[in-house]
Amino acid sequence: MVVVMIQPWFQRAKLGIFIHWGIYAVKPTGESWPFFLGEISYEDYMAQRHGFTAKHYDPQAWAALFAKAGARYAVLTTKHHDGMALWDTAASDLNVAKATPAGRDLIGPYCEALRQHGLKVGLYFSHLDWSHPDYATLPKAIPPGDHGDASKANSFNFRVHDPAAWERFLVFHRAQLRELCERFHTDLLWFDGDWDRTAEQWRMAELRDQLHQWAPGVILNSRMKGHGDYQTPEQGLPTVTPSGPWEFCMTCNDHWGYFDTDKNYKSVRQILWYFAQCISKGGNLLLDFGPKADGTFPEEQIAILEGLARWNSKHAEAVFPTGPGLPLGHFDGPSTLSADHRTLYLFCFYRPEHSFPVSGIRNKIESVRVLGPGTPLASRKLGGAAWSNIPGVLWIDAPEPTDLDPDATVIEIKLDSPLDLFRGEGGAIEHNATT
Ligand code: GLC
Repeated sequence: MVVVMIQPWFQRAKLGIFIHWGIYAVKPTGESWPFFLGEISYEDYMAQRHGFTAKHYDPQAWAALFAKAGARYAVLTTKHHDGMALWDTAASDLNVAKATPAGRDLIGPYCEALRQHGLKVGLYFSHLDWSHPDYATLPKAIPPGDHGDASKANSFNFRVHDPAAWERFLVFHRAQLRELCERFHTDLLWFDGDWDRTAEQWRMAELRDQLHQWAPGVILNSRMKGHGDYQTPEQGLPTVTPSGPWEFCMTCNDHWGYFDTDKNYKSVRQILWYFAQCISKGGNLLLDFGPKADGTFPEEQIAILEGLARWNSKHAEAVFPTGPGLPLGHFDGPSTLSADHRTLYLFCFYRPEHSFPVSGIRNKIESVRVLGPGTPLASRKLGGAAWSNIPGVLWIDAPEPTDLDPDATVIEIKLDSPLDLFRGEGGAIEHNATT
């Protein structure tokens, strides 16, 4: 990983919206993978393009909904592994303007709408392209034990390495990326599909420089074989804090794109739990949604965005201007800390019925209250050893049920000075013993 200073907006953003939109929304098929894995023929998969209308696509409404939900950026698939570009690229006819009834560029209006609503623009782009005749050239395209059995993908010629074809592919790859950067002035490029070529084959170091020339200030995710700016753990929430800037991407049901029979949605409360875990450890959540082929979001996804909007607007001060909270071991849940380190926010995903503990706070407590209603809560420190600067455990009285948030209650603790934590292992206190 190249050590870089990432644009400050990214680590302040906290919430991003990931959108997988493509011809795979037409039928209940996953994005790109089904034809690669031989679950559907390439022809049947690509025939979905005839149903991709984008008829009710309203990027202004998308951007308004994302902004209301509390997102500070969005990332839209400009081209998934299937190779169908969502803009009218001059580099190939395989684009929605030419090859689908949508008949127009879908990326420009998205960028414009996001900017009008104060959101940063992110564009997802798959390095690899399973439709491009010059792409499938390496002996081992699928890592063993990873995405299944390479022999299943029998319509692709992985056995012939053709350096001339690879050179042609790189020209095409750069041409599309240059269009995306220069036309849409993207703030972030979210790459994917770097896995079956090396950094040298992709010429990633050179690409990184080119991207910075074409889109000054652009942020690059990690899927650049070590040449990106931040890590992208996917579906598995980190249990330890990743080093450096990071963003956790996750589907809200079990598919990245629209899949009409998949109703296995996480609840708003559950999604907020992932979100709080991320911000508590200094990361962002990039929450994925899949619009239908006509450009509208399914009602379950709108309900999730509305749920996030309600909770984030009530608890904004605990989320957006804050940084990572208490390290593990001090409170049974995620937390954040204000920029001046004098206010702690505790996120309660279980309904506290009794007093609940926070350990290790040496500071004097100025106030404890329920964020939102503002109701003060009684608290007291018990135990500890003041003469050795070992603080007692802070016990906070449970809020009244009427003050609890239906999804997650936030408790605000105001301190008299910047947070001073006891991080010792404990042990016998010997200096007050008589000798
Ligand atoms: C994986 C999948 C891809 C999906 C992406 C999102 O790389 O190959 O289908 O778009 O994850 O992070």
